Amino acid sequence: MGTFLHRLVIVFLCLSSAPMVFGSNICTSQGVATCQQCLAVHPNCAWCSQEEFGMGGSSVSRCDLKQNLLNGGCSSASVEFPSSTLTIQEDKPLSAKASGAADDVTQLRPQKLSITLRPGDAKRFSMSVKQVEDYPVDLYYLMDLSYSMKDDLARLRTLGNELAATMAKKTSKLRMGFGAFVDKTTSPYMYTYPPEAVENPCLGIHDTCMAQFGFKNVLSLTEKVARFTEEVGKQQVSRNRDAPEGGFDAVMQAVVCKEKIGWRADASHLLVFTTDAKTHIALDGRIAGIVQPNDGQCHLDNDNNYNKSTVLDYPSLALMTDKMSENNINLIFAVTAYVEPLYKAYSQLIPGTTVGTLSDDSGNVIQLIKEAYEKIRSKIELELLDVPEELSLSFNATCLNEEVILGVRHCSGLKIGDTVSFSVEVQLRACPKEKNRTFTIKPRGFKDSLEVTVDFACSCDCEAKAVANSSICSNGNGTYECGVCQCHQGRLGPRCECSAEDYSSSNNDNCIEEQGGPLCSGRGDCLCGQCSCHANEFGEVWGKYCQCDDFNCLRFKGALCSDHGRCRCGKCHCDSNWKGPNCNCSTVTDTCTSSIGMLCSGRGHCECGICHCTEVGAYGATCEKCPTCP
Ligand SMILES: *[C@@H]1O[C@H](CO)[C@@H](O)[C@H](O)[C@H]1NC(C)=O
Ligand SMILES: *[C@@H]1O[C@H](CO)[C@@H](O)[C@H](O)[C@H]1NC(C)=O
Ligand SMILES: *[C@@H]1O[C@H](CO)[C@@H](O)[C@H](O)[C@H]1NC(C)=O
Ligand SMILES: *[C@@H]1O[C@H](CO)[C@@H](O)[C@H](O)[C@H]1NC(C)=O
Ligand SMILES: *[C@@H]1O[C@H](CO)[C@@H](O)[C@H](O)[C@H]1NC(C)=O
Ligand SMILES: *[C@@H]1O[C@H](CO)[C@@H](O)[C@H](O)[C@H]1NC(C)=O
Repeated sequence: MGTFLHRLVIVFLCLSSAPMVFGSNICTSQGVATCQQCLAVHPNCAWCSQEEFGMGGSSVSRCDLKQNLLNGGCSSASVEFPSSTLTIQEDKPLSAKASGAADDVTQLRPQKLSITLRPGDAKRFSMSVKQVEDYPVDLYYLMDLSYSMKDDLARLRTLGNELAATMAKKTSKLRMGFGAFVDKTTSPYMYTYPPEAVENPCLGIHDTCMAQFGFKNVLSLTEKVARFTEEVGKQQVSRNRDAPEGGFDAVMQAVVCKEKIGWRADASHLLVFTTDAKTHIALDGRIAGIVQPNDGQCHLDNDNNYNKSTVLDYPSLALMTDKMSENNINLIFAVTAYVEPLYKAYSQLIPGTTVGTLSDDSGNVIQLIKEAYEKIRSKIELELLDVPEELSLSFNATCLNEEVILGVRHCSGLKIGDTVSFSVEVQLRACPKEKNRTFTIKPRGFKDSLEVTVDFACSCDCEAKAVANSSICSNGNGTYECGVCQCHQGRLGPRCECSAEDYSSSNNDNCIEEQGGPLCSGRGDCLCGQCSCHANEFGEVWGKYCQCDDFNCLRFKGALCSDHGRCRCGKCHCDSNWKGPNCNCSTVTDTCTSSIGMLCSGRGHCECGICHCTEVGAYGATCEKCPTCP
C-alpha cells in the first residue's frame, strides 16, 4: 500500500513538474551519477545525499526537482540545491554635479555586485551611467616638434590662452600640460653626420634647431594654465631624418607616467596628439637594432626625458589600448589631412580614440579639441575587463527617450547631465576551475567602474565529507561521496559490490534503452547490469545507457554549436543573444540598425542580425540604399 501511494505521488509529481523528457523530467532523464553532474544538468535540479535514499527501488533518482526529493523522503538537510543569487554590495547614488571635493563624484551605480550562479543559469541587473556636469578635465598637449611643425609651433604660441579659455567654458576644473616628441635618438632616425649635426640637426638646411630627442614632458598638468603659453613659447623645433616620427613612444609615456604627467584620478583625461607625419610602430625598432619590446612602464628621468628611447622598441597598438584603458585616457589624434586616413585606421584598432583634421598650421586646433571633447562626452561605451570565458554577458541599452536598444552596450548623442542605463545579463556556460572570479564593467575613459564577483555554484557541500575507501562501498572498494559510492577501477554496482571480472549477463536488460536496441547504445559494456561507457577520443560518453555525449551536436561552418553555445547530450544550449538549433542566429539587432536608428531603415525585417529588405529596390546592410523608394 505504502509503495503504491508512493508511486502515485511520484507519477503525479512528474506530471505536474517542469520540462518532461521520456515521461520523467530533465533532472532524472540523463542518468547522472554524481552530485556535481546533477547541478550541471539544469539549474532546477537538486541532489539527495542521504545514505538510505532510493536504495529500495532502482527507479528513484537522486537527481530530481527539489520538491520531488523531499516528497520522496529525502530530509531537507540532505538536499543539495545551491541557487543563483545576486546581491548589490555598494550602491552610492549618482552625483548631480562635480562638487568641490572631486573624490566623491559618482558617475556610475551600483559600484559593487556579488552573484552566485549555477551552471546554465543567468542573472540580470541594471546599471546607470551619468555624464556629471562640470566634471574636471585634464588636457595634455603632445606635440610633434619635427622640423615641418615649425609653423604649427609658432601658431600654438598664439593660441594657448584661447585654448585655455575655450576649455574653461566646459569645466571650471581645468588642468593643462605640454609634452613634445621627435623620434629615437639613434641612426637611421637621426642625422649623425657631420658630427655637429647631432647638436644642430638643421645644419644641412642652413638653420638652427634643437638637438633631436625622443619624448620630453615639458609641463606637467597644472591649474596655472597661463604657464602653458609660457612653456610653449620656450620651445623650438628639432629635425629628424626619416619621414615617420616616434610619437607612439611619447603616447605610451604620457599614458603610463601618471605621477609625472599629473593625471588626476577623478577627471576626464584628454591626450591630444598633433602631427603631420606618419608614425613608427612596434617592430620598426629593428632597423636600428632595437629588439627589446616596449614594456609599458614609465621611464622618465629626472629631467623629464624618456630615457629608454633607444633601448625599447615602439609600443604595439594592443599595449597602447591596454594602458589607455587602464589609465582612462581619451586619445585625440589631431593630424593633418595628408595622414588622416592612416590615423583613422589606427583609431579603428585602438578603441576610445577620436581623429580630427588639423589645418596645416594647427590654426583650427581649438575647434578640433572642443569638438573631440564634445564627441567623447556625448558617448558612453561600456568596456569589459577580465571576464572569464565561461561567462557570457549580454546587454540592452536604454539611451534616450526610454527607448531600449537590444544587444548594445553603448549610447551616443548624449548631452552632459544625461543618465543612461544598461541591462546586463550574466550567464554561466560551464564550470571554471576556480570557485569565484571578479570582473569589471567600466565606461571607457571613466574612472568609475562596477566590480562583479561571481561565485560558481558548481560543486556540492557534501563533497567535503567524502570518505575514501569507505566501508559502505563494499569494504573499501570505493569512495563514499554525497550518498553514493564512486567505485574503484574494475568495481561496479551501487555499493561497488560487483567485480567486473565475475559479472553475469543476466542483467543485460538494464543496459538497453529501447527494446531490441544495442547494449549501452553500442558505446559501452554492460557490467553487473550497468553500463560502463567507453572513453572516446572526442570526450566523455555518459548517461545510464551511454546515450549522451557532449561532442555530437549541430555544427555550423565546422564549429560545434557555432561556438555560441554548449553541447550537452546531443543538443545545443545557446548562449544568451544566440538562438537556433545550431546557435548561429544572433538575437542582437544593432547590426540591423541603420545610422538613423531604424531597424533595416523601415524597409525590411531583421533576421539573425541580418536585414532582409522587403521594400522593392531597397538594398544595403541596413536596407539604407533605395534609389527608387519615395
Ligand atoms: C633613466 O632614468 C631613471 C630615473 O632617473 C634612472 O633610474 C635610470 O637609471 C635611467 N636610465 C638610463 C638608461 O639612463
Ligand atoms: C533585452 O531585451 C530582450 C527583449 O525584451 C530580452 O529578451 C532580453 O532578455 C534582454 N536582455 C537583457 C540583458 O536585459
Ligand atoms: C574566492 O575563492 C577563494 C578560494 O578559491 C577564497 O579564498 C576567497 O575568499 C573567495 N572570494 C570571495 C570574494 O568569495
Ligand atoms: C584506499 O585504498 C587504496 C588501495 O585499494 C590505497 O592505495 C589508498 O591509499 C587508500 N586511500 C586511503 C585514503 O586510505
Ligand atoms: C573489495 O571487496 C571485496 C568483496 O567485498 C573484499 O574482499 C575486498 O577486500 C575489497 N577490496 C578492498 C581493496 O578493500
Ligand atoms: C544557420 O545555419 C543554418 C543551417 O546550416 C543555415 O541554413 C542558415 O543560413 C544559418 N544562418 C545564418 C544566419 O548563418
